[in-house]
Amino acid sequence: MAPNEPLFAGRRGSSIHSEERAEDEDTALLSGQKVATAPKNRYHFWREVGLFTWAVVATAALIVLAVLLGQQQTIPQDGKSSKPTGKRNLIFMVSDGMGPASLSMTRSFRQFQGTLPFNDALALDQHFIGSSRTRSTSSYVTDSAAGATAFSCGLKSYNGAISMLPDLTPCGTVLEAAKKAGYMTGLVVTTDITDATPACFASHVRIRSEEDLIAQQEVGEHPLGRVVDLMLGGGRCHFLPNTTTGSCREDGRDITKLAQDIFGWNYIDNREDFDSLKLGSAVKLPLMGLFAEHDIPYEIDRRNMNDKYPSLEEMARTAMNALAAATQDSEKGFFLMIEASRIDHAGHGNDPAAQVNEVLGYDRAFASVIEFLDNSDVEGVMVATSDHETGELHPEYPHYGWYPQVLANVSHSSSYLAGQLRLHIGQTVDHSKNFEDDESRKADLAKYINEELVQKGLGIQDATAEEIQRVIDVPPLASYTFADMVSRRAQIGWSTHGHSAVDVNIYGSKGSDALRGNHENIEVGEFLRTYLDVDVQAVTDELVEKSTTLRSSAISGDWFGHIPTEEEIRFASMHYERLYPDAL
Ligand SMILES: *[C@@H]1O[C@H](CO)[C@@H](O)[C@H](O)[C@H]1NC(C)=O
Ligand SMILES: *[C@@H]1O[C@H](CO)[C@@H](O)[C@H](O)[C@H]1NC(C)=O
Ligand SMILES: [Zn+2]
Repeated sequence: MAPNEPLFAGRRGSSIHSEERAEDEDTALLSGQKVATAPKNRYHFWREVGLFTWAVVATAALIVLAVLLGQQQTIPQDGKSSKPTGKRNLIFMVSDGMGPASLSMTRSFRQFQGTLPFNDALALDQHFIGSSRTRSTSSYVTDSAAGATAFSCGLKSYNGAISMLPDLTPCGTVLEAAKKAGYMTGLVVTTDITDATPACFASHVRIRSEEDLIAQQEVGEHPLGRVVDLMLGGGRCHFLPNTTTGSCREDGRDITKLAQDIFGWNYIDNREDFDSLKLGSAVKLPLMGLFAEHDIPYEIDRRNMNDKYPSLEEMARTAMNALAAATQDSEKGFFLMIEASRIDHAGHGNDPAAQVNEVLGYDRAFASVIEFLDNSDVEGVMVATSDHETGELHPEYPHYGWYPQVLANVSHSSSYLAGQLRLHIGQTVDHSKNFEDDESRKADLAKYINEELVQKGLGIQDATAEEIQRVIDVPPLASYTFADMVSRRAQIGWSTHGHSAVDVNIYGSKGSDALRGNHENIEVGEFLRTYLDVDVQAVTDELVEKSTTLRSSAISGDWFGHIPTEEEIRFASMHYERLYPDAL
């Protein structure tokens, strides 16, 4: 029986009418005969008993099925777009900075590494449905803040805007509207939980650099109160007071304490506590897990760190299981946003080995979401897209060559190795001598770079003296130099260290047909609110009203942070290029 047949479609109990009606007609015919005349023969009698029994059994079976499935079925409304009634879950996935070229490179790399046939596809590939145009109001090339505002509010805004509009007023988000409607909500990322993409769902500030304010709003010091039930990721430093080591806050407020004491959060910050969540079966909401001061390490590095940090897939599974359990007895399901945040960072760093492993980690998390939906008895949809592309890479390069073995030989990201170099230089500095005149120390450093970083870390055995010298000459750019050494050998070209305006892909599970084809990014946002059937405009109205009347009893200053300069907006998309510590 096709799930969309009117049979299961709406109200339970009475919803079995069509088949029942056909059955009624049969039995009416029979009973008509029965009333008129006594059964003429045994055959007729047994046929009647048989049909009656069948009708009883079928009706009972249908009632059981209707009770089991009743709330999950969809009513086709206008043939094309169908909106479910009853309980449902929505999982929205973002691959920050992932463009079509990173996909081609990753697919090909995976085939090479696993000796798979050339038609082997990623889990993502099997759910490709369309593409999205990404420009913002301030630029043809968007940043993650304007990109995520398009998803969260369904509206275009300027680069750097965290769910704020060009007139500097807040716009309600799909997560906030979902929370108000009774859904449970979650955010899972591999970068700071205060970074632009997650911030756009649960906070409102005029420029993305206001991460201290974003942290406060995310835990509940927000015009609407606490709107998030689960947060997993990095960015702990924005929650710790400036008197603590590992803090990056400007003030002395302890947001982890505020979260626990005032807003009731359960707070964890390490792998052991993450393991005790048992992939979600032992979670108490609200839960905030911040596993790194800043970013969770790149997948290529993380997997060599004794599992100190959870992977995106582990966090995604934990979040889905926890939210499903918490909504088990609720009429509403959950809304969860999962972001592979650092595909973008690997793009900024032009580091192909780090990027393919980030995309593969995302693909595994993506597969776990599909698996969850397949096994869930609650109606659910997954939509996945990117905010923009970063770096724009072309596996073709000048000679149409592509050497995936080069990437397979790399065991660490370039930024990690640059960090090792910084540490090494810090530890071996001899202030009694001038480095320029210290030939033996120069030779030692060259040997360390070649043997420990280039040969072991990058898997490159044929580094030239010029390449090593380039690292020694400009240590702050070591990360770019390492990435460039790998890219050249693999014959991968990068056009920029920044974002590009290329259309990005949209992926979706069953039920996401409305997003087939080419769309503006705000149409993805529209899909999210339509699927959940929530009133985002009512949230906007409430935010606007509260921002003028309530202006800050708990907070000194403005709810939404300072007004950005034109330069701050112009450079929003280069945020990481300028501030990413390893690139400096
Ligand atoms: C820490 O924050 C307080 C305000 O809460 C400020 O007065 C102080 O200067 C800050 N200290 C540092 C080292 O930034
Ligand atoms: C990869 O590493 C192996 C082992 O060190 C080496 O023999 C091979 O030449 C490397 N390949 C490339 C393309 O760097
Ligand atoms: Zn970026």
